[in-house]
Amino acid sequence: VSDLVNHRDGKDTSRMQTLAKSLLLLATTLLLCAIPQSKPSTHASQFTNDGKLKAPEDYRTWIYLSTGFDMSYTAGARKPEHHMFDNVFVPQESYAVFLKTGTWPEGTMLALEGREGKSKGSINHDGNFQSTEVMGFEVHVKDSKRFANGWAFFRFSGEGKPGVMIPTTADCYSCHGQHAAVDTTFVQFYPTLLPIAKIKGTLSANYKKETE
Ligand code: HEC
Repeated sequence: VSDLVNHRDGKDTSRMQTLAKSLLLLATTLLLCAIPQSKPSTHASQFTNDGKLKAPEDYRTWIYLSTGFDMSYTAGARKPEHHMFDNVFVPQESYAVFLKTGTWPEGTMLALEGREGKSKGSINHDGNFQSTEVMGFEVHVKDSKRFANGWAFFRFSGEGKPGVMIPTTADCYSCHGQHAAVDTTFVQFYPTLLPIAKIKGTLSANYKKETE
């Protein structure tokens, strides 16, 4: 009898070991799957608990879309005291999706960085170059679950601090909604993207009407 028991014990132990091994394997697999989720890519928007947008600190490594120079959207507006450049960046992943589809995936952020135009410096004679100080930083975020209009603007003040959402009553939303070429973004001014939007047929009805 004791032989029988021992025999069965041995079987149970080896079964237990197999079970433990499978569980360990399962746990490792789950852990490996979970790592990229618990540490999400910095290239999709991330929010604080109180709805602020975490500063995308690596935006300077994103794809460069364009620089607007002294752009002004109202006829006869007062001449500003200094020149302004605004540089636009988008994460690599979003750019790749745009190339394929002609529009932006969920989580897309477009960063607008303002810098002053300087003329005096080093060997420069004519023309302008960009200041080292950033004069303004805003991000346009696509998140249809979070925002009623699908997108929202965030303004940043101070390095590293999270961005505060601009209220939807601001003119940012109406101008972008009424005049932007693709999905409330000003693709008509992003030279590598406008041809793609044309091919993919994603230009907004308003933009098409304006350019007829
Ligand atoms: C009267 C029209 C108008 C208004 C108002 C406006 N924008 Fe824009 N916005 C533009 C244009 C045009 C561009 C393209 C700039 C370029 O080509 O450099 C742009 C680009 C941007 C971008 C780059 C991403 C994109 O969506 O194309 C951001 C971010 C942005 N604006 C934020 C804002 C914020 C924040 C406000 C409000 C405080 C605002 N804008 C108000 C016309 C407007």
